[in-house]
Amino acid sequence: MAQLWGGRFTKETDDLVYRFNASIHFDKRLFEQDIEGSIAHVVMLEKQGIISLEEKDAIVKGLTGIRTDVEQGSLSITDEFEDIHSFVEAKLIERIGDAGKKMHTGRSRNDQVALDMKLYIRGEVLKISDCLQDLMGTLISIMENNLTTYMPGFTHLQKAQPTTLAHHMGAYFEMFKRDWQRLSDIYRRMNYCPLGAGAFAGTTYPLDRAYTASLMGFEGPTLNSMDSVADRDYIIELLSALSTIMMHLSRFSEEVIIWNSNEYRFVEIDDGFSTGSSIMPQKKNPDIAELVRGKTGRVYGALVSILTTMKGIPLAYNKDMQEDKEVTFDAIETVKNCLVLFNGMLETMKFNHPVMEQSAMNGFTNATDAADYLVGKGVPFRDAHGIIGRLVLYCLEKNTCIDKLSIRELQAISPVFEADIYDAVSLKTCVEKRLTIGAPGQEAMKEVIRINKDFLDACREKYMNNETDHK
Ligand code: ARG
Repeated sequence: MAQLWGGRFTKETDDLVYRFNASIHFDKRLFEQDIEGSIAHVVMLEKQGIISLEEKDAIVKGLTGIRTDVEQGSLSITDEFEDIHSFVEAKLIERIGDAGKKMHTGRSRNDQVALDMKLYIRGEVLKISDCLQDLMGTLISIMENNLTTYMPGFTHLQKAQPTTLAHHMGAYFEMFKRDWQRLSDIYRRMNYCPLGAGAFAGTTYPLDRAYTASLMGFEGPTLNSMDSVADRDYIIELLSALSTIMMHLSRFSEEVIIWNSNEYRFVEIDDGFSTGSSIMPQKKNPDIAELVRGKTGRVYGALVSILTTMKGIPLAYNKDMQEDKEVTFDAIETVKNCLVLFNGMLETMKFNHPVMEQSAMNGFTNATDAADYLVGKGVPFRDAHGIIGRLVLYCLEKNTCIDKLSIRELQAISPVFEADIYDAVSLKTCVEKRLTIGAPGQEAMKEVIRINKDFLDACREKYMNNETDHK
């Protein structure tokens, strides 16, 4: 057992209590952030004359040495320490002696752990944003290549109106764009440094909190020391954004699974991203999409877990908050893996254009356009709706479709039909006449793709800047 406290205790901690309380087996993930925060803290302490230049230099050298040794494997983070903060401080004192004992001046583990989590989450927000950018890049190229790949669009999972693959993929682009924007909002809102809040009431040392914050690329210091150590909103916001990403990926997965089924055959998942059956030799299963859909549950679980943990905690820091880590780390890893794997599956997936197009031809996806044709000839829409309804019924009885009927059959149902009906209800016309912004017509789609490519370029630029800022 190695802990930072003990002076006022007369007994050793019970072994079970020690293990129940310890967090090093999961908070060791915050090792780098803990070192970074400690370096910033002591640099500030020296600037403020609270420790000497020699002490600061010795601590910084000690900390960077510990970092190098852990990175290179000559020093391992072991469970004999209570948490990552204790490990770093104990190793520092072991290596540099008394100067090491000054590192924690004007700091508490409460503001320290809040800082470590913020640094960690800020970095992960950038990584997840990058994964989203890659996925959006894949979607844009599918869109560019499929402006005239016609397919049925669905409502109630029933064929509704024709659209294009570009348009359908564009819907997912918009979702992931909002996800990216949400992460960027979270980054901005959380980017204030809690260090200097101490246990919760600030400290009596003349700390320069703005300086510490600037050393780590924060916008500034947090403005209430009690809130600084008690706030986990940024974790909740992140988990909420991650849950939304998973909800989007899960809906997309569901479509891929349906489209990949024997009945649909709209897509074929690449062999590299499919799996087989141990008994049925013919099987090629969409396991990646199913797993992504399935893992959505554990990310939602993380969000509900933290919301529940936080709801009854009085101000300021309470040990309950140690529970914020494992589920958050797990959710972050899950989302990154899902985004990368889903993107890989999408990039290599084959779209079966003729099958999609054939499917759009059956199922009366042009019925709305047939009604609009009659409206164009002066029939009120409600009457046109009734006429086309009867036409569909007639087709169903004859097992045919609107565009295959003869002009005489059409005119028997309504004399308004003329020879130009065939062109009016062709798949191409149905799609290409939909030209309002956001609709599937080619010119409208090109404009949207142009706007979204600009968005993606701006994201990439922002991502690069953020990354360099925080080094
Ligand atoms: N392991 C703790 C956590 O994750 C660090 C903060 C401990 N602070 C304290 N007062 N015990 O929240």
